[in-house]
Amino acid sequence: MSDADLLKREAAARALDLVRSGMKLGLGTGSTARHLVELLGARVSEGLEVVGVPTSEATRQQAEALGIPLGTLDEYPLLDLCIDGADEVGPDLTLIKGGGGALLREKIVASAAQQMIVIADESKKVDVLGKFPLPIEVVDFGVAAIRRGIDKAARAAGCHGLLTLRRGADGHVFVTDQGHLILDAAYGAIAKPAELAARLAEVPGVVEHGLFIGLASRVMLAGSGGVTELERR
Ligand code: A5P
Repeated sequence: MSDADLLKREAAARALDLVRSGMKLGLGTGSTARHLVELLGARVSEGLEVVGVPTSEATRQQAEALGIPLGTLDEYPLLDLCIDGADEVGPDLTLIKGGGGALLREKIVASAAQQMIVIADESKKVDVLGKFPLPIEVVDFGVAAIRRGIDKAARAAGCHGLLTLRRGADGHVFVTDQGHLILDAAYGAIAKPAELAARLAEVPGVVEHGLFIGLASRVMLAGSGGVTELERR
């Protein structure tokens, strides 16, 4: 396992300490969340009783293969915890998410949880969000017009930068689990994330964006000196 993977696993293990029998759990997506699901699968096989609500088809498949009982938000609209990774962790636990393309389900599941716990290695911690391109999920209709709307909204929030239509490793246009497209916005430093989030949410055709504000309550950040816990003020 690479050093980065060891750190991701450490962060995941720390978050798993918060899980108790009987809990309904949001299960995140991405390489860090994969470690969590793997470790959770081992605990379930030892007798831990939980129900997981996956944030993507990829996580659903992994969890199912490990024998983790799964449910939906229709069955369990209120979750105890959601544990997920992040692409960037900024001031006051603001996040950029969606590098794996699951931001819409991730945001819905995190919003349904009493607490969102983020697991990450220390490379994800930043002073200002935005070095990681901001994923913006859009419908597959009128994309050129939606792009103009996004540009205008971003400029009003002091941001501008190239929007790139995401493609998969096979070169084909990436389609999310909900059948949408993703535009990755290279804004650089996002000085006012809350304002950008509010303005993007108003653009017709934008389904969701990867700014998670006021959602994460704790971050388990793994580094060479161990796991540091950050809490939202
Ligand atoms: C998935 O859509 C993302 O939000 C991931 O949670 C995020 O990209 C972190 O992924 P890694 O754990 O692979 O860095």
